[in-house]
Amino acid sequence: MAFLNWREEFSVGIARIDQQHRRLVGFLNELYESMQAGQGREALGKVLGDLLLYTKTHFAAEEQLMKAHGYPGFDDHRQRHERMTQKVKELSEQFRAGTLSSPIQMTNFLKDWLSKHILETDRQYGPFLTARGVK
Ligand SMILES: [Fe+2]
Ligand SMILES: [Fe+2]
Repeated sequence: MAFLNWREEFSVGIARIDQQHRRLVGFLNELYESMQAGQGREALGKVLGDLLLYTKTHFAAEEQLMKAHGYPGFDDHRQRHERMTQKVKELSEQFRAGTLSSPIQMTNFLKDWLSKHILETDRQYGPFLTARGVK
């Protein structure tokens, strides 16, 4: 069973965003599986790097959409992305330096953040954007 299963309630109603979220969930599962399989720091570092890179691409895509359509919650949403980016950077540096106390805590944190952010923050722009023709 996957570490985090995609659920229909994760859908924001915009196909390209749902696809990006599915990919993020996929990267997170990959990271978790690599850890479970006891892969070395280098392999884990690569998966973690992919996840971080894709998170960046995804945040930029969401921010561009929200900005283009004058979404009122844009500033708050962008700040949440920035805080997360900062946090993940710190975790990633600790991981690379070998000072991360608990890798499983890191994957749990990522899972909780991703689920919560999609359900509570991303889903808020769904109706606003779809009402403006975003698909
Ligand atoms: Fe998102
Ligand atoms: Fe977001």
